[in-house]
Amino acid sequence: PVLVRAYHEKVISHYERPRNVGSLPKNDIDVGTGLVGAPACGDVMKLQIRVNEQGIISDVKFKTFGCGSAIASSSYMTERVKGLSLDEAGKIKNTEIAKELCLPPVKLHCSMLAEDAIRSAIRDYRAKRSNLSPSQQAGV
Ligand code: FES
Ligand code: FES
Repeated sequence: PVLVRAYHEKVISHYERPRNVGSLPKNDIDVGTGLVGAPACGDVMKLQIRVNEQGIISDVKFKTFGCGSAIASSSYMTERVKGLSLDEAGKIKNTEIAKELCLPPVKLHCSMLAEDAIRSAIRDYRAKRSNLSPSQQAGV
């Protein structure tokens, strides 16, 4: 029971006190927004990253309209990606989240939402940057 409790405390902690809930200004050029949904249950997750000049994720916020496991997964993801490069963040697998949070198989798609959301945020950020003129890219 002690071991089981230790597992469960992790997910309960992210569920009861989710980290980094909120929003970043969507139109800022250094912000990428990922918005994804789970067809199975209709839950929706928004995850936003702010990227500094070194290409490092300096801030992360999320809003999840979904089950406890989806909220815990996004909370975990925000802590996990802060300080990472975009390439590193894009490689995080939902299986890692599921393992860390002790999600049962039926809740795997909840952690998948977090993986989809960070990838979608990275894509949005990159698309935004590639549409900028060179002077805007330089932050002018
Ligand atoms: Fe551990 Fe639900 S609290 S899987
Ligand atoms: Fe669908 Fe958790 S995201 S039940």
